[in-house]
Amino acid sequence: MNRDTELELIDELLALKADKTHFLDETVTRNPVTHYVSDDRFAEERDRIFRKTPMIAAHTSELANAGDFLRRDVAGLPVLLTRDKSGTVNAFVNAWRHRGTRLVDDEAGCKHRFSCPYHAWTYANTGELIAAPHFDNGFEGLEKSELSLKRLTCQERHGFIWVTAEDDGAVDLDTHLKDIGGDLAALDLENMVVAHQDAPVHKANWKILVEGGIEAYHFKVAHQSTIGPHFEDNLSSYRMFGPHMRSILMRTSMARLEPDTREDWRLRDHAQVLYTLFPNTALLVQSDHIAWINQEALSAGETRVRMSTLVPKEEAGNTEHWQRNHEITRVTLDEDFVIGESIQSTLTSGANEDMIFGRFEGALDAFNRVVDARL
Ligand code: FES
Ligand SMILES: [Fe+2]
Repeated sequence: MNRDTELELIDELLALKADKTHFLDETVTRNPVTHYVSDDRFAEERDRIFRKTPMIAAHTSELANAGDFLRRDVAGLPVLLTRDKSGTVNAFVNAWRHRGTRLVDDEAGCKHRFSCPYHAWTYANTGELIAAPHFDNGFEGLEKSELSLKRLTCQERHGFIWVTAEDDGAVDLDTHLKDIGGDLAALDLENMVVAHQDAPVHKANWKILVEGGIEAYHFKVAHQSTIGPHFEDNLSSYRMFGPHMRSILMRTSMARLEPDTREDWRLRDHAQVLYTLFPNTALLVQSDHIAWINQEALSAGETRVRMSTLVPKEEAGNTEHWQRNHEITRVTLDEDFVIGESIQSTLTSGANEDMIFGRFEGALDAFNRVVDARL
């Protein structure tokens, strides 16, 4: 975001506060509750969105050195990420080509080859089958070269490793990032590292968890004992960048900015800047670090929330400070996720046919319109 945009965003929120109003969409909107509970709907989202969109699977710092590997779920597929000795990152389906055993059970580690505990077929971290006992006698007509691991499209960009599960009909990464790339570049994510990460599973649809982050209507209520007092009541704005969104949530300190210090105004210090990267990633830009949240949808009613604190490389040693920040983010997000689970638990009760989004909750409608358009 350039300097003019930064000041415009601050001015916009200050004007809304001065006018005692909110950032309002045209109308109240609705979203059917079936979109959050239906298995068919979930299968469609998985097949048409998650599998056809470049998804952030990891941060590059999690796979920093040759030989490093990571196990992740991407779009419902078990995925093995490796960095080979040429420095290239590879993504494979984490399944042996013989009888399907999982190639890797450890979450992460460093290995240049993987040997199966079942019949000892051995793969290089570049995906080739390099050894298989008694192969020539037992697998006549097959070539080892045909039995490489199933490779997925994988690219490093803006400090993240992006995996596309199915290329056929998929959005390519350049197109995906066309409108938001400038903002992502400015965050300097390549020069950050993961200081902390946890990944609990919550019993809520992934969209409910995304929606929980993109409105400020709940801040003063749901976060009253944590971050609520630091934010203005129900004051946020949002813009779409293709399928992605940038939301700005106003801190109380913004209203105390003096006009004669305008040159030094820094949005990050007086607002929470939140990027919602379609479909399932949130980047919460704090004044000295970024909370990166991936909503890994497991089923219609279950989501693994992988939350990482990304910090500048050169300040990674400040471990206590980052630990404290990670815990603050975790406690605050848990307040949202408990509510998300509560919402999910009532959706099949018949109490409501639709979710209702107020005019200052327009971001929720905008997000759901993108989801709908991709199905
Ligand atoms: S399933 Fe792994 S070698 Fe047979
Ligand atoms: Fe919240």
